[in-house]
Amino acid sequence: MREPFALANFLSRWVPSVRHDLASSDSETTTLSDLLDLAGQDDLERWHELGFGYLDPRGAEWLRHTVAARHERLAADDVVCCAGAQEALAAVVAALLTPHDHAVVVLPIYQPSEEAVTALCTATGVALRATDGWCLDVGAVEAALRPQTKLVLMNMPNSPTGATLDAATMDDLVALCRRRGLWLVSDEVYRHTLDRSHGLGATPAVADLYERGISIDSLSKGYGLAGLRVGWIACRDRRLLAAALNAKNRMSSCLSAASEILAQVALRAEDRILARSRSVGERSRARLDALIAQHPETFGADASHNLAFAFPRYLGTEGADRFANDLAGRADILVLPASLWRSRLGQVPTDHLRIGLGRLGAVPAFDALDRYLFVAVQ
Ligand SMILES: Cc1ncc(COP(=O)(O)O)c(C=O)c1O
Repeated sequence: MREPFALANFLSRWVPSVRHDLASSDSETTTLSDLLDLAGQDDLERWHELGFGYLDPRGAEWLRHTVAARHERLAADDVVCCAGAQEALAAVVAALLTPHDHAVVVLPIYQPSEEAVTALCTATGVALRATDGWCLDVGAVEAALRPQTKLVLMNMPNSPTGATLDAATMDDLVALCRRRGLWLVSDEVYRHTLDRSHGLGATPAVADLYERGISIDSLSKGYGLAGLRVGWIACRDRRLLAAALNAKNRMSSCLSAASEILAQVALRAEDRILARSRSVGERSRARLDALIAQHPETFGADASHNLAFAFPRYLGTEGADRFANDLAGRADILVLPASLWRSRLGQVPTDHLRIGLGRLGAVPAFDALDRYLFVAVQ
């Protein structure tokens, strides 16, 4: 029997009943009519002529071209579209891993991603270093390698910690992977919501940096379009992409026809969509920073650099799990205790909370949290 999916179970337990959702890490969504208002003439024509037969299993050429153009050196045929980042990641690891292989997984990581790997081969976890602002120790990755290691998997920018890799660490990691012939698989769904000091350009996609770099991305987070179910694999190695496409075709034959067009509209209008997401995130972060400053007995400083979520340490004696459950039950406010990123491969932080910043409801939720904490200390 598989380990329960802790994060999904926690969300299904609380989301239907709580008033203030600070658990989500996706940005505020948009309506269909607002999205179509952003469409150019050619996309509107596609929309009105839309049919519903099977489509190119790789994703429409024009959509892959639009994705590729966001990279430094990729063409449409270096991209395969999938039903979200989750399917993209599952297809990549299914294409690469056999029971004889070994993988290194950087922790913490989204539980389904770890399990996609551990269902196929043995794996070793390498934890981001909490004491160092969640740095990756490339020496620890090297020490975890075995002769049969095939890939390194990470989620960077990382959830829940908010960690990013600085250029020197990324260079070291790529150099190590190149020396050892490893694939570097990076789930990059949180690249679009980095704060100003860590903007997009500061954290290149691994597919641009490395010939065996595989970037996984989607419209689910910073674009607020998780319901479209559009994600993709980007990689310069066409043999890898063909194998991943094979694996993907076993899961789903093609994207939704409507989603392909709406994804194209969103990517072409990404400056406006992401600017809005960042501005909501910045407002939320400013309010949260003020709240943290007012409650130094409750929260430690937050070192994350993402506008999708914060990751402060919880300082109360009852612990982050108990606090989060009490907060949901008594104050109708949902935050995520870090223990939900549980792993079979190593320790994950348990004394932090991941707090969503991307929704318009975040500021009123922080006001409610402020009132709850004020009453709690009386
Ligand atoms: C790190 C990470 N990767 C992937 C996913 C899944 O993304 P998608 O909805 O695009 O499949 C999530 C969803 O929460 C996530 O947090």
